[in-house]
Amino acid sequence: MKYTCTQCRYIYDESFGDTGEGIEAGKNIYEIEGFSCPNCHGSVDDFQEIMEVVLTADNPDYLSMIESEHIPIIHHLENKPGTIEVLVWDPPHSMFPEHYIGQISLHDEDWDMIEEKTLSCDDDPVTQFDISDLETFTVRAKCNQHGIWSTHILENNL
Ligand SMILES: [Fe+2]
Repeated sequence: MKYTCTQCRYIYDESFGDTGEGIEAGKNIYEIEGFSCPNCHGSVDDFQEIMEVVLTADNPDYLSMIESEHIPIIHHLENKPGTIEVLVWDPPHSMFPEHYIGQISLHDEDWDMIEEKTLSCDDDPVTQFDISDLETFTVRAKCNQHGIWSTHILENNL
């Protein structure tokens, strides 16, 4: 599982641990004695799990998470090569003030943010990104009620 610090956006990937911090692979952050964010030293309570779907050419669909309603759906736009359209689920996630998608962001293979779109309740949970320079990328959506969800593309040819 992956977790992000909601204060500074540091990402902790349980499968790798954090060797710089002396945390071995496989350690759950909630089981690490005295864990605080390695980047901003914030509390473990500021961490949020990132729900993730990995798409590959062998597995180009969302079936395993079809009930989620939050997973970003990615379409390549045929009339705009190198551009993707991201829709936060179909039918779209609600956009009411008490429950809406506030951000959709694009990240590179190191999970560094390339671009972020902030949405208001008057918007639809949809946006476009230029991914022409990226082979592997992740798109993340943040729901104000249900946390952060992501789709990870391993080959940019789906
Ligand atoms: Fe939600």
